[in-house]
Amino acid sequence: MNWLEDLRSRIDITKNKIYLDNAGAGPLSRDVVTAISNFIDLWSREGEPWDEALEHIVEARKEFGELIGASVDNIAATPGVTYGLNAILSSIEIKPGSNAVASPLNFPTGIISLQAMRSRGILKEVRLAKPRNGYVDIEEYERLIDDRTSIVLVDYVSWITGYRERVREVSEIAHKKGALVIVDAFHSVGVLEIDVKKEGIDALLCGSYKWLMGPHGAGFAYVSNELLQSLKPAFSGWMGIEDSVIKRRARGEKLFERPFNIEGFSPARDATILEWGTWPVIAFEGTLASMRLLKRFEAVYRYNTHTSRLVRRLMDGVEDLGLRLKTPRDSHAAIVVFEYRDPYGLAEKLRSMGIIVSPRPGIIRVSPHLYNTIEEIEIFLEQLKKHIKISGA
Ligand SMILES: Cc1ncc(COP(=O)(O)O)c(C=O)c1O
Repeated sequence: MNWLEDLRSRIDITKNKIYLDNAGAGPLSRDVVTAISNFIDLWSREGEPWDEALEHIVEARKEFGELIGASVDNIAATPGVTYGLNAILSSIEIKPGSNAVASPLNFPTGIISLQAMRSRGILKEVRLAKPRNGYVDIEEYERLIDDRTSIVLVDYVSWITGYRERVREVSEIAHKKGALVIVDAFHSVGVLEIDVKKEGIDALLCGSYKWLMGPHGAGFAYVSNELLQSLKPAFSGWMGIEDSVIKRRARGEKLFERPFNIEGFSPARDATILEWGTWPVIAFEGTLASMRLLKRFEAVYRYNTHTSRLVRRLMDGVEDLGLRLKTPRDSHAAIVVFEYRDPYGLAEKLRSMGIIVSPRPGIIRVSPHLYNTIEEIEIFLEQLKKHIKISGA
């Protein structure tokens, strides 16, 4: 069995579907299902597996750190992107009169948070960049980021065009003006090699259920050492303090031997400052198993040889059919987007044949991952061609 057959044998959906919607949600592997069911089984037989849960939260933070070139102390385990982002935003000291700059190619959730801050008067302005041809020019960031910019919020890979942002260049511009760069990397961790330090990223968010192929409910937040030292949380809880139960466990202390200090606030000195309460431990069990699977199959290193070949074939095939690509050819990851007059009609037709892609307003998004094959891409293109012929699209 070669590596691809081995990987596919662990992912049940590959047996009956051509699944090309990893940007929507990745499939669950046998490894994830087994890890979750073993954990629940243990829970039901022995009572709450608290010790295992705490150990696995720490291991999940470590595994995630490895995927982005960061140490475990810089990673928080959060219930998802939006929660992690809001934990960071509510811990940053923002000077009065500040603005934030964001790309409209971002998934809306972070921009909505910034707009909420503006409506409370925490930010004076939210500046949205103007994209052209599926991406935002670097000159546009230069135009928008000024001495009053506190935050620049960009998605590493756009959910809606597949554009891979030039993060290092954006962070150079932002840092010259003293702004922080916060990156939502939900569509890149698990597919691409990322190095937060080389790319000048101050904070990064990711969730479990897309390219990491975990269940819903887990996520991670990275903060650089410099940013960490300046965080002043407006909200916190018993997991965000230096004397949290997970820290007590690491020090070899009994978890509830001493009362918690409720007379003051001593925040954690590492990224757990962003963790507020008990983690969604079942989701983390599955996500940890999945990150280990992706590591074993060297997902991010195989991007160059396998996944990007699937993506190139998709792009060529779509253009050969006379359809207009929205994904820039020169800067993308594993999301391919093309314009289509009736996206829901096409997606439903393909679904009835066991091919899963996502329809979005005026476009179709196709997002292969490491476990997909070139034969699956050919079948998708063949069916797309037939549909165009029949529907006259
Ligand atoms: C880039 C990106 N960020 C964030 C989210 C939502 O994350 P969550 O609901 O886990 O906060 C999505 C959902 O599709 C997304 O595509």
